[in-house]
Amino acid sequence: MTKIKVSNLQHKYPNGVIAVSNVNVEIEQGEQVSVVGQNGSGKTTLVKHWNGLLKPTQGNVFVGELDTLDHSVNILARKVGYVFQNPNHQIFAASVRDELEFGLINIGLDEEEVNSRTNRIAEEFGLVEYLETNPYRLGFSLRKTVGMASIIAMEPDVVVLDEPTTGQDYLGIKAIRTAIKKLKDQGKTVIVVSHDMPLVAEDTDRVLVMCDTELIFDGTPSKLFASKEILSKTNLLPPQITSFTQKVGLNIEGESVLSVEEAEKVL
Ligand SMILES: Nc1ncnc2c1ncn2[C@@H]1O[C@H](COP(=O)(O)OP(=O)(O)OP(=O)(O)O)[C@@H](O)[C@H]1O
Ligand SMILES: [Mg+2]
Repeated sequence: MTKIKVSNLQHKYPNGVIAVSNVNVEIEQGEQVSVVGQNGSGKTTLVKHWNGLLKPTQGNVFVGELDTLDHSVNILARKVGYVFQNPNHQIFAASVRDELEFGLINIGLDEEEVNSRTNRIAEEFGLVEYLETNPYRLGFSLRKTVGMASIIAMEPDVVVLDEPTTGQDYLGIKAIRTAIKKLKDQGKTVIVVSHDMPLVAEDTDRVLVMCDTELIFDGTPSKLFASKEILSKTNLLPPQITSFTQKVGLNIEGESVLSVEEAEKVL
C-alpha cells in the first residue's frame, strides 16, 4: 500500500523556471487519477516528483512513509513506476528483452523470476516477436509500449503514465485502456497524464487540473466537464458525447454525462 502526499510543492528548474507552485494533494492506494492541463502547465514536472526523478525545491513529497528528499529514485521506483512521455528518454538497452529485464534485475529478482516475468509481460503487451530487436528499430508507438511494459513488469503499487495514448492508433489506445483496467482490478493506483478526454472521462474517477504551475481543480470528471469556468481557463474540451448532452439539455446541474452508455440511460 502506497499513499502519495504532496505538501506545498514548488519546483524551480536550475534555469530559474518555476514549473509547479503551491501544490497540495493526497492520492490513496487504488485511486484512478488523471492529470490534465495545457502544454507547459506543469503536469510532467508534478508527476516526476512521485518517484523522485525530480525533488521539491520547496515543500515535500511523501511516497508512503518515505520523504523523497531523503531517498533515491532506485528505492522510490519500487513503489512508484513512471512511464516517460517520450520513450526515447526512458529506453536505453540494446534489445527489448534487456530493456524489460533491466528493472527486474535492479529490484533484486532472481534469474528465474526475471525470465518468467519478462516472458509474461512480453506476451501481455504483444512484444514476444520483438524481444531480440533493438528498441530503436521499432516505431514510436511500439517503443512507447516497451516503456510501459518495462515499468508494469516491476509491479509497483503506483503506475504513472505520462501521455500514454499520444501517437497511438485506435488499437494501441484500446490496448492501453485494457492495461489500465487490469492495473485497476489489481488494486494499483493508476495516474494518467492525458489530453485524451474520453480516456479521462471514462477510465478515471478523479481529475487534477494544472494551470500555469498551479493545481486549480481536484474532483470528478463529471464535475469538471460541467464547470464552464475551469474549462475556459484551461481550453479543455469535454468529450463529444458530453458536449452533445449539454447542448440538448440532458445534464443534471453541476454534473455531466460521460459516455454513450450513460447518455442512453438518461434518454
Ligand atoms: N528541464 C527543464 N528545464 C527548464 N524548464 C523546464 C524543464 N522541463 C520543463 N520545463 C518548463 O517547465 C514548464 C512545465 O513543463 P512540463 O513539461 O511540466 O509541462 P506539461 O504540462 O507536462 O506540458 P506538456 O503537455 O507539453 O507535456 C514549462 O514552462 C517548461 O518549458
Ligand atoms: Mg508533459
